[in-house]
Amino acid sequence: MCGIFAITSNRRNNIGETLVECAEKLTYRGYDTVGCATVYKNKIHLRKDKGKFDIVATKLRLSEMRGSKGIAQLRWATFGAPSKLNAQPHLDCDEDLCAAHNGNILNFLPLREQYTHEGHTVRSMNDGEICVHAIERYYDQLGDMVEAIQKGCNDLKGDYAFAVMHRDDDKVYAVKMGSSLFAGIGKGETCVSSDLPSILPITREILNIHDGELVILSPTTIEIRRISDGQLVERKPYTSDADIRVAQKGGYPHFMLKEIHEQVSSTRTLFSAIREPYISQFVGSLINANRVFFVACGSSYHAAVVGSYYFNELANVAVIPVIGGQFISHYGDAVRKGDVVVCVSQSGETKDVIDVVHHCRNRDVKILSIINVLGSTLTHLSDLYLPLGSGFEISVPATKTYTSQVTLFNYLAALSGQKREVLESTRAEEIITDLKTHLPALIEETISTNTIKARALAPYLSKYSHFYVLGYGITHGVALEGALKIKEVCYIVADGMYSSEFKHGPLSIVEEGYPIVFTIAPKDSEHLVNHLAEVECRGARIIITGEDHPLLRRYVKDDDFFLIPESNQYLSPILQAIPLQLMAYHLATYKNIDPDYPRNISKTLTVR
Ligand code: M6R
Repeated sequence: MCGIFAITSNRRNNIGETLVECAEKLTYRGYDTVGCATVYKNKIHLRKDKGKFDIVATKLRLSEMRGSKGIAQLRWATFGAPSKLNAQPHLDCDEDLCAAHNGNILNFLPLREQYTHEGHTVRSMNDGEICVHAIERYYDQLGDMVEAIQKGCNDLKGDYAFAVMHRDDDKVYAVKMGSSLFAGIGKGETCVSSDLPSILPITREILNIHDGELVILSPTTIEIRRISDGQLVERKPYTSDADIRVAQKGGYPHFMLKEIHEQVSSTRTLFSAIREPYISQFVGSLINANRVFFVACGSSYHAAVVGSYYFNELANVAVIPVIGGQFISHYGDAVRKGDVVVCVSQSGETKDVIDVVHHCRNRDVKILSIINVLGSTLTHLSDLYLPLGSGFEISVPATKTYTSQVTLFNYLAALSGQKREVLESTRAEEIITDLKTHLPALIEETISTNTIKARALAPYLSKYSHFYVLGYGITHGVALEGALKIKEVCYIVADGMYSSEFKHGPLSIVEEGYPIVFTIAPKDSEHLVNHLAEVECRGARIIITGEDHPLLRRYVKDDDFFLIPESNQYLSPILQAIPLQLMAYHLATYKNIDPDYPRNISKTLTVR
């Protein structure tokens, strides 16, 4: 949620151009409001408004803003409606300071009341504004930015990161307290951002910033200090080898379609990203654990659900998949030393998951993670993590990272089964070979077989405001994921559920022509005939994703059968998500919805 980018330079005085080029790459973090502030001739210039980055940038001519330092902010609204007034950055009372934040200031309302009472002009209902007043309050007394920020942070409660600048110097200051922040050192300029894609146009020399740190940027230096005591922190930059082309559409109309196609390569790069001895340590911890919980949200949770079936079938390990926000109230008092929590997260920043980590830390529970964004908060908090190596996933709906998560779970379950001697070594090797060598081509085939069908189905599905996606056994998580994709990018209430549950109530909704999508694992085809028959005799239009089977053919028209190439049964759930992604994508574009930026959503949710 929300993205900030800030830069100070001794090479440019047209910093608006750079702010636009770099901040635009944070669009996936929020598109409710946009704002840019620059310092030009010792005066702060601020332009901001409601709307998506490209639209506001053109309307307000942000690239024409003069100055050699500036802050940009893209907002996903929580406190305060999406409006020009609540847009960030915010000015202090005298327009000496300007700041923008990402995250939540939980004591915003009492502070707003207190500061207003003290005489501050708090203009908006957005919690980000309170950061600038907290600093102003101490700066007015102390006249020192570093001390003012240290003291200001003591007043603020919550998880956040912010950037702030004064109109009278060439510096930008930034703080990380629970939300992501990276710094970059270029030639004659330095910058900070919520995420790497926006830094790469400036430099590849990156410094990861940790929670509780203050970064002081001048055009030629970056200084890191601990907020608690002002102590200098020594840290060397590293050179990022991230491929910047991944953050561009590369000829596709949308990032979502590009990322669906990238699954062919991202399932390969996964295996070069994960390395021994970390894989063995990870597997060792799982099989020696008292209990194993997979904790995640959204698509990552759905991957975890599929993963829990792999662990049952291949390793005979009972894994409990839990939604991040639910974990503490459901299992929080019961977890103890010996249990292992595996956090699954694309961003590595999801607050509901980070809260679980903090809770479990106090109970001596081992924290393992599966993460795509390296340098994210979760990478610092985990005892051990495995990277997904998917590169940047820009589109808000998760596609390639979901697929890599499921692929990794299949791999880890096969290794665990082999290690526990419940899966024959030759069988484990076969499964692993299929993942490493055959999966990419099967993904490619699945995409090409199903693209036209997905496009053709869109007009029919668009007539419905709701329908069901049903899964059974190992495809349960796939159904949940397919339904989420359709909800998220098509604004249709697609309900994903376990197909045997359908007769326990929802069946009553079926009438002539009602769409029901089944995702069917090859070994369940015969068993599911019952479920198909129950809805067919009531007039449902059945759509299937699965391998070809004569029994299934009786219930589905050719055009509605989204065929998966024959493969070992564990690859099937990986492949089955792909037609559902394509259905969601084509349905969204048919409805004129931009699937990359569905309304009200942010890719990274750093709020509870
Ligand atoms: O970064 P994470 O994997 O922790 O994000 C979790 C969810 O917010 C995310 O998967 C979300 O559900 C996707 N936008 C769905 O496509």
